[in-house]
Amino acid sequence: PAVTPFIDNVQQPPVAAPDRRHQRGLGGHDDDRLRYTLTVDVHNTHKFSSAWGPTRTLGYSTANATVDYLGPTIVTREGRPIKVRVVNNLPAAGTPVFPFDQPNNNNTITTHRHGGLQPVKSDGVPAPNGVEVPPGGSQTNHYPNDQAAAPLWYHDHADAMDSYHVYEGLAGLAPNTDKRERSFGLPRGDFAKSYVLQDKSFNADYSLCYTHADPEFFGDLPVINGTIAPKQNVEPRRYTFTLVNGSDSRFYHLSLQQVGGAPSGPPAMTVVGNDEGYLLHPAPVRDLLIAPGERYRVVVDFTGHNSQKWVLANDAPAPYPGPNAAPLIPRLMRFDVGPHVTSPDHSRVPKKIRETNNTEPLARTLREARLRTVQAGENTPGVPQIGDKKQLLNYFDPPTEKPQLGSTEVWAMRNHSPDAHPFHEHIVELRLVGRWHVGQWDANGRPVPGTIGPFEPAAAYESGPKDTFVSPPDFITAWVGTYTIPGTSVWHCHILSHEDGASTGGAIEMMRPLAVGKKPQ
Ligand code: C2O
Ligand code: CU
Repeated sequence: PAVTPFIDNVQQPPVAAPDRRHQRGLGGHDDDRLRYTLTVDVHNTHKFSSAWGPTRTLGYSTANATVDYLGPTIVTREGRPIKVRVVNNLPAAGTPVFPFDQPNNNNTITTHRHGGLQPVKSDGVPAPNGVEVPPGGSQTNHYPNDQAAAPLWYHDHADAMDSYHVYEGLAGLAPNTDKRERSFGLPRGDFAKSYVLQDKSFNADYSLCYTHADPEFFGDLPVINGTIAPKQNVEPRRYTFTLVNGSDSRFYHLSLQQVGGAPSGPPAMTVVGNDEGYLLHPAPVRDLLIAPGERYRVVVDFTGHNSQKWVLANDAPAPYPGPNAAPLIPRLMRFDVGPHVTSPDHSRVPKKIRETNNTEPLARTLREARLRTVQAGENTPGVPQIGDKKQLLNYFDPPTEKPQLGSTEVWAMRNHSPDAHPFHEHIVELRLVGRWHVGQWDANGRPVPGTIGPFEPAAAYESGPKDTFVSPPDFITAWVGTYTIPGTSVWHCHILSHEDGASTGGAIEMMRPLAVGKKPQ
């Protein structure tokens, strides 16, 4: 069904309230933690457009909020641990909730807080390495929150099912905050907004449409926080926008484009933070590429743009970087700038954000690092896989990435597949080092000597602490990090259909164990 764009206002998800709060000192040390319960039910319906009938969806609900699509925002603070209990009220195994769910769907769920530095037991690791929650069961995750402010998010991670579950609605925002970020002077409160960017397709009866004829899934309509092509009323002042790419497969290459009115230059955009925190040096941008799983914090300055309209435009081909095979989504949402501010704007974008987790010089980190080569390719055309330096592997193969606890590693990802993939490692804070173009690969997926281009350092907007990296085809992409949390988690492509191996029914997944232990291998 068709939608007239930019009619509905974009919604901010409700903020989750904790179940209860014990006084410190009562009932043992465990009980001074805030505890939340997230419940996943089957009876949700959601209106993606006010002009439409309801659509069946999934969502997470808390004590204070029933959310039919996506979940409530879980706001945490550095140094304040919380517990999150997730209750699975989906029907028994073998009863698909959506007609497109895989026939072998057992309706288990497991909840991963993406970007959170939590123990593996609480990381929502997919089976068989992790424990998933069957229908009728629950799982309690402990989040220590010993990390700097960062736009974390949570989503389902059930093996071979999370692409379905996230598409159906199992994702939410989980920003961690700290005292320092308040002093940066960035726009906050009413002037800070978060947007989960997604693409969807619908059947004539408004039901969700999801297919896996291809290794990726691309919808034809933009959905922002659960509303199709919405509008956001803003004042002519600065805003902080947190962008989360919660799409299955779609990359967005974003810019602001004016519609109507006397033409003017675009509002200034400055990237101030990304996946795992803030940038040391905020980076002015005219456009921004965001891949599934990535987050960016951007200050947009509408000052002087009174009464103008600006569309958040996208020109990224799908799949990225092309050739284009799916409909483009050229316009995501619209900002309607009001005639005046309701209060003076005292916000600012500092030249340098000193107090961050990003002050360690990269050069020093690199001197200590051990090099690990990994690769992405296709043994069968259209079935992307990742592996170690020797071979492409499957999730169910024994771990090959086994960093020593406390060690620093540079991962050099050789992507000899035809697509860009956003690679994500769980529970480790990473930084992009840079990339090299590769002119030719040999039969074993190694660069042919003499065909490696010059080193391309990380762009300013991609610097800073991250956990997900765009890895373009025919490039070696390198990132670095220190492994501080022991145990077996995962690393994977964040194109969820790839990670799930959806086009193979989950038989071959673009995901691997990540086993951090005592001895390096
Ligand atoms: Cu968004 Cu395995 O993660
Ligand atoms: Cu991929």
